[in-house]
Amino acid sequence: MKFVCQPPGSRSRKIIARDNKVISSSYSREFDFVFDHAKGCYIWDVDGKKYLDFAAGIAVANVGHANDAVIKAIKQQAEKGTHAAFGDFYAELPVKFVEKLLTFVPPHLNNAFLSNSGTEAVEAAYKCARWHTNKKWFIAFEHAFHGRTMGSLSLTKSKPRHRERYNPFLPVVHVPFPYVYRMPFSSEDECVQYCLNKAEQMMKQHQGDIAGLIVEPIQGEGGYVVPPQNFHRELKKLCERYDLLYCVDEVQSGCFRTGTFLASEQFGVKPDIASLSKAVGGGIPLGVTLANKKTMNWEPGTHSNTFGGNLLACAAGIASLEFMRKEKLGDNAKKQGSYMLKLLNELKEKYEIIGDVRGRGLMIGVEIVKDKYSKTPAEEEMQQILCNAAAKGLVVLGAGKSVIRFCPPLIITKQQVDQGLQVFEEAVKKVK
Ligand SMILES: Cc1ncc(COP(=O)(O)O)c(C=O)c1O
Repeated sequence: MKFVCQPPGSRSRKIIARDNKVISSSYSREFDFVFDHAKGCYIWDVDGKKYLDFAAGIAVANVGHANDAVIKAIKQQAEKGTHAAFGDFYAELPVKFVEKLLTFVPPHLNNAFLSNSGTEAVEAAYKCARWHTNKKWFIAFEHAFHGRTMGSLSLTKSKPRHRERYNPFLPVVHVPFPYVYRMPFSSEDECVQYCLNKAEQMMKQHQGDIAGLIVEPIQGEGGYVVPPQNFHRELKKLCERYDLLYCVDEVQSGCFRTGTFLASEQFGVKPDIASLSKAVGGGIPLGVTLANKKTMNWEPGTHSNTFGGNLLACAAGIASLEFMRKEKLGDNAKKQGSYMLKLLNELKEKYEIIGDVRGRGLMIGVEIVKDKYSKTPAEEEMQQILCNAAAKGLVVLGAGKSVIRFCPPLIITKQQVDQGLQVFEEAVKKVK
């Protein structure tokens, strides 16, 4: 058996061996971690090892793992029924969930399509834009990640492996995203202008036949890349000028991860369509695509599914949204996030291999490089840091080429931030 880091305990090894026999080899596991149970900000493997979770099940467990309010809601609903075939019949719970969700988002977003995952929430955005405009082309960004089903994959361009052998794709053109740290410009403004010019070129080239543009407010899988503050506003203006829908993928950045419910709010833009998933279902698969009723004007039969509006997912979703509001998780994301940024920036001053630290709220990326001058991505070193951290009981994930992402549950305390960053520093020290 091949392990990513040091071999785990014997129970884990046995399960991994069974997994290797029957589970598809397409998954690329970041760790040899075998989940047993989780609570709050901690997860345990089947050998009893406890980890502080700075990955939150990939930005899913915003309200904390095994949240009591969410468990209660799921249990209560499970007694009454789990599946209402919402695509074919009516049910109150999905309506209640959407009514609640609409109180969290800008008021022009007043219609929702329900699904089960991030990729489906993006597919629905894509199809809705194409149906509404009756146009063909889409603009997406280099390094973007929007999911892996064929529609979303056509929009995705974060790692070559994702797209290998899947050609032909849908009609999508990719343009540069302002990755300031890695682009050769002397100022943020120049970088933004370059990206906007490229987007505008494409808008001109396909003028009259572009349905929309899709963008992550902060790129996630691409490396937690935060664009300069004016980028989204200017981009939206271009979309208005060339008459295309401006769609945001908030699958990873949504649900207070960056401090506001939608990350796009921080950039002062109103999306025409917004896709949510991950944390919105409190740990149960749920995808939501939001738009204005005028934009979401597709006719019956043009898009639907079996499980969208699933009752367990909606019950869990309502409980999570209520918990997020009651516990002011957006405020905590801002507070702990700025504390974490401050500590990570201090580490950047101390260690040559920490090239860049960036983020909003609790969506923070640390870029690992060979040295600050060359900025060469240090992929092996990054992997070693992930393994060193895991050995010491901290789970952090990679993104992009050599970025370590920090996206803990939003209930995290200052003490847990301190605890995690102490382990992280030890993990870095062992590598440099
Ligand atoms: C921004 C973004 N969009 C879409 C997706 C796809 O979500 P899923 O894996 O649930 O299909 C992801 C997953 O990481 C994501 O980060």
